[in-house]
This record gives sequence, C-alpha cells and structure tokens, in this order.
Amino acid sequence: MKTIGLDISRAIGFAGKEKYDSLRDKAIDAISKLDEGTGAGADFLGWVKLPSEITPAMIADIEATAATLRKECEFVVCIGIGGSYLGAKAVIAALSDSFADFYAPAPGSPKVLFAGQNIGEEYTSELRRLLKGRRFGIIVISKSGTTTEPAIAFRILKDMLVEQVGADEARRLIVAVTDKAKGALRTLADREGYKTYVIPDNVGGRFSVLTPVGLLPIAVAGFDIAALVAGAADMEGTTRLPGDDNPAETYARMRNALYQDGKKIELLVNFNPKLHYFAEWWKQLYGESEGKEGKGIFPASVDFTTDLHSMGQWIQEGERTIFETVLSVKEPAVEERITDDAENLDGLNYLAGKRIDEVNKMAELGTIIAHNDGGVPVMKIEVHSLDEHTLGRLIYFFERACGISGYILGVNPFNQPGVEAYKKNMFALLGKPGYEAETAAIKARL
Ligand code: PA5
Repeated sequence: MKTIGLDISRAIGFAGKEKYDSLRDKAIDAISKLDEGTGAGADFLGWVKLPSEITPAMIADIEATAATLRKECEFVVCIGIGGSYLGAKAVIAALSDSFADFYAPAPGSPKVLFAGQNIGEEYTSELRRLLKGRRFGIIVISKSGTTTEPAIAFRILKDMLVEQVGADEARRLIVAVTDKAKGALRTLADREGYKTYVIPDNVGGRFSVLTPVGLLPIAVAGFDIAALVAGAADMEGTTRLPGDDNPAETYARMRNALYQDGKKIELLVNFNPKLHYFAEWWKQLYGESEGKEGKGIFPASVDFTTDLHSMGQWIQEGERTIFETVLSVKEPAVEERITDDAENLDGLNYLAGKRIDEVNKMAELGTIIAHNDGGVPVMKIEVHSLDEHTLGRLIYFFERACGISGYILGVNPFNQPGVEAYKKNMFALLGKPGYEAETAAIKARL
C-alpha cells in the first residue's frame, strides 16, 4: 500500500452526502490558501513543503550528531514540551519494542528519555536518580527558548551533567534546538558553544516533527529519519491537489460535515498500543489548531481493546455527540499464534493456531459495526505496517488535513492564543519580575 487507505462509508450516512459535498468548495479554497499563503496564519506555513525541501545534507548532519550521542551516551534526555516533545515521542514509541525500557542500554544504543514535559517533582528526582553516575547527553528543544517546564528541567540536568563530567565535556554532550536568534536558550547555547539546530520561524511547534525537533531524537533512538521524511514527501505529493483522491481533503471535509451535524467530539481509535503517543501528538495538532473562537471538534483518543473495558459503554450508548476515526495497522511486524491446550478449560481451542492479530482484527471489525449500529459515525484510516515511511506519510497526512480542516472551520489553524492564559496566572502567582500588577490582581481574587 503506497498511500494510506481512508474509508468514510460508515460515516457519510450520518452527516449526509449533501453536506459532505457542500464542503467541496471550502476545501478547494482551503487548499489554495495553504499553497498560496493567502489564509490566516500564513506566516506559519513552512511545514507545507518541508518534506520535499529537506536535503540529504540536512539529514546527514542530524544523523552525524545522533551518531555521536549514540556512541558516547547510555541515556539521552530530550527536554521539551508540547510540539517540542510529542512528535518525537510518538514516532519513537510507535517504532520501539514495547519493553525497551526494561532492557539495559547497550553500547551504541542509548535509551532516549524525556524531561521538561511536566513539572513533576518526583519525576525529576527519579530521573536524577536514574542518571546518577551514568553517561548521559541532553537534547534541549524549545522554539521560544523561554518555556518554563523545559527551562527548569534543563537547568537541573545541565548542572548535574557538569557536576558529573565537567563543563567542557558537558558542552559536547548538549545539543540545543531553538530559534535562530531569539530566546534565553539561544543566548545560553551561543555563550556555551553547544551544537545547535534551528527551528524555522515559519514552522509552529505542533507542525515541527519533521524539523530537527523531531528528527534528532528519532535518529538518536536509532530510527531511519530519511525514510520518515521520504514517507512524508510521498504524502505531500498525494495531498497536493484538491479532489476526491486527496485523502487529507476527504478526511477534513468528512469531520467538518460531522461537526456541523452535531458530532462535537472525535475519538482517534487505535487497536495497537504502540500508537498511544501518536494519538497524543494528533490531539495537540488538532486541539491547538481548531479549538478557538468558541469552535472546534474536541480531539480525544482511546486505546482499544483496552479502553473498550472502560470507555466502551459510553461510546456505545452515551450522548450521541461523538464520531470515531480508527487508525488501523494491517500487518504486525511479527507473528505470534494462540497455542492449543489439551484440556481446553478456558474454551479457547477454537482460536488455537490463529494469529493474535486475527483476533484483534475481528475485535476491530466487531467494534466498528457495534459502534456504528449504536449511532457513532466511524471513519477508518488503514496503513500497511508500522515503519518509518508509513509514519512519515501519516504525519504529513494529518498535518495537511488539519490545515484544510481549520480553514473549512473558519479559524486560524496556526496560532494558539489560549495557551498563554495559564502561563500569565502562573507567573503572577510565582511573583515573576515584571508581573507585579498581575500578582496583585490575582492575589486579590484568592
Ligand atoms: O504548538 C505549540 O506551539 C506549543 O505546544 C509549543 O510547542 C510548546 O508550548 C513548547 O514551546 P517551545 O518550543 O517554545 O518551548
């Protein structure tokens, strides 16, 4: 399967073909806005042609940096949050052994860890305990270079690294990915002489996985970033022109048609636990891009069959405001069969000899039919297998569809004014210099 399969046949009946068809012109307009840069947020469209513009020299440079960290470290800690974290986490989790964390690091194959994606005191302390006396490196990622969560983690881990290996050696083991000129991280990186990569001005955090933000950690984890980018470039070609054979347009139109029909929540469903973090990445992409001006589908996700045993009842019979998008992987990378048992006390012999995935696929089909019967529109996106090329295609597919969908919805998909509100309050409560008036105002409300 060169592209991805998208089936809307179990969704279109809910919104009606007429409504779906009526969004054709808006979709064509959205695609032209993305390509011509004539829509809202046009200065953040660097991601549109990113896959085809990445050069072999850029890939080789990232791979060389990754090779150094791989050779020299047992652990590499990637520090970042939101768009500076989720893309790498999603790809690494999708491609890694589920139990990778329980194997000891092998020479030349460090464990990739994440920090600065929360402000957990236990998390930080436990990470420091793990890294004590171990050879580790740091990739610190922040486009603005001023985000509080990664700044705290970096300050603590940098000090620890300097203490363990000395300032000169620490400098060699730290790589910064940040703005070309602005922000505290850029100032620090230049002063210390860290190896740095630039996040292009015109690529927002949630669209940055195919820049060094995502590519460097993914390469350090040992995955093929050239194949990831090639997959994305393939999908850039597939989704360039409007039309019924453009899966990004189809997905964007279908979800907007459902939204107009009162389906306010989209569940991204997987039947493969390796895709858990891919859904987290997708939630940020769609949530930050569309949730504004009192509008936007709420992006949620579930891991099936696990969550069928917790959320299944609500999905089957709760308020009919949801639709599902099932992300289905056709072929697992391995074969594992159900064994025969002479006594058959568990009654499972009717499955003996079958692949586990055969059962999983029947659970998937049975669930889709059941939920559809229960009033849930279901779209299905099918990929052949989980590999770098496929993930690159999926990433670009969802990015492109997000841009189209946001413009159909009538918002600027490339800003995120709402994420500042909590920061302002937090700084006021912490007494950050420069926030004196806000501190007085918020304290008066407590
Ligand atoms: O999409 C976004 O813009 C945000 O999620 C940011 O990526 C996140 O807040 C981290 O920002 P920064 O990379 O500036 O530290």
